[in-house]
Amino acid sequence: MAEKQPQDEFSRRAFLGKAGAVAAAGAVAPLVSAVESPLFSRLTQSPNDKLVLGLIGCGGMGASNMRNLMNFADVEVAALCDVDDSRVPNDYKDVEKKYNRAPKVYKDYRSILDRKDIDAVIVGTPDHWHALNFIHACEAGKDAYQEKPLSHHLMETVAMAGAQEKHKRVVQCGTWQRSTKEFTDAINYVRSGKLGKVVQCRAWITDTTRVGKQKVSDPPKGLDYDMWVGPATFVPYQSNRCHWNWRWFMNFGGGLTTDWGVHMMDIALLGMSKDQELVMPHMVSTYGGQWAILDDDRTAPDVTESIFLFKEPHEWTLHWSVGRDHPGKPGHGTEFIGADGRTVRVWRGGWLILDPEGKEMPKEESPALGDHWRNFVDCVKTREKPRADLRSVAQTTVLCHLSNIALQSGQQIEWDNKKWDLAGNAGKNVEAYNRPYRKPYKLTVTKPSAGR
Ligand SMILES: NC(=O)c1ccc[n+]([C@@H]2O[C@H](COP(=O)([O-])OP(=O)(O)OC[C@H]3O[C@@H](n4cnc5c(N)ncnc54)[C@H](O)[C@@H]3O)[C@@H](O)[C@H]2O)c1
Repeated sequence: MAEKQPQDEFSRRAFLGKAGAVAAAGAVAPLVSAVESPLFSRLTQSPNDKLVLGLIGCGGMGASNMRNLMNFADVEVAALCDVDDSRVPNDYKDVEKKYNRAPKVYKDYRSILDRKDIDAVIVGTPDHWHALNFIHACEAGKDAYQEKPLSHHLMETVAMAGAQEKHKRVVQCGTWQRSTKEFTDAINYVRSGKLGKVVQCRAWITDTTRVGKQKVSDPPKGLDYDMWVGPATFVPYQSNRCHWNWRWFMNFGGGLTTDWGVHMMDIALLGMSKDQELVMPHMVSTYGGQWAILDDDRTAPDVTESIFLFKEPHEWTLHWSVGRDHPGKPGHGTEFIGADGRTVRVWRGGWLILDPEGKEMPKEESPALGDHWRNFVDCVKTREKPRADLRSVAQTTVLCHLSNIALQSGQQIEWDNKKWDLAGNAGKNVEAYNRPYRKPYKLTVTKPSAGR
């Protein structure tokens, strides 16, 4: 399939301009005129107001978030958007059944952003689309339930944190472990100081995924493939690098270092921080590659070992591993290792404290925090920070990209937390740091306020 020739700049403003011009000519109903971002949602008027949502990216995790949010009586889903028609019908049916009213369906997410009756969006697109979806949503004054990892590369992450701050948006991210009991218990135990001085953390994921080998083909009817590729580098359609599988292609995702690193390293950072403003590393080195799965189209490394050096709250290291196997441990998890050899280990479904000989020790529980999606709805209404506020999850996402930047560049890199940037030039010439957008897409970077 041929790549479409670039036309006008792809932005929310260009879209509004076009929509306005067509409407003026009487060809279609006006979408709405250009709206400046309201600082606060209309929902702050009354806590009983319904939060009206639009979903961008159907059929996968975005839809799963939508279903979780549909459990609440003060939430209503009004619109769905996907570039692939075949991904919409199930979500459409469920929304229609729930509200006894058909949702409006769009193929261009800017139509959702244009609707004044929509308060917030769920962004459930693949990672290479998150930054534009999200920044345009901020510009349109929408709050967001934003899927993780926040971005395809580091500069997008910075731009997203800057956009949230500039437009004062309430944003809950999809790192839902922040709301679950086992992770909260482990984090609180470490924060309480009961494990003593923590000198090392480990986070890991097993990656044995094969996407197989496939030939280029025409995209299915109903999929606007050019729009699916969006700002990424154009490659012809192959079904094994489109829905779901894109995460194993570095053109669209960052491999399991971003996909799962953002979940597991997040827990290490939270345990070592006092609050949502996270401690950040000083130096990072990574080794790895695509060494185990060679007869396959995937391009993401299947072995990654990163070491992050921190100076806060004292000197400690975080070890991030993507690998074939982690014997004797769950396939994913996070560990905190105390100076005296005790370990706190946590994974989806449980946590434990081990003494230096590996024997389990008694645990201490903390109160449950409550539902992650409900926390989003409540915060949209109160304008408080959700538990997985975007700025904080952006900091964890930065770690994921630092790991990939160090791997891609082969350099030891240094993070300047005040500038939200790499210190010096090492690492700046790789795609995990920044990659030019395909025309006519454009990333505008506004930096957030300095880290600690
Ligand atoms: N929080 C979690 O536990 C969790 C779990 C799984 C996935 N995720 C995240 O959710 C996101 C989606 O992952 P997935 O596995 O559901 O992907 P997916 O490929 O299954 O679904 C993404 C959908 O977005 C659509 N899409 C692509 N570009 C679009 C655009 N510009 N506008 C509208 N729709 C567009 C695709 O056609 C597809 O239907 C990813 O960021 C992923 O990391 C999070």
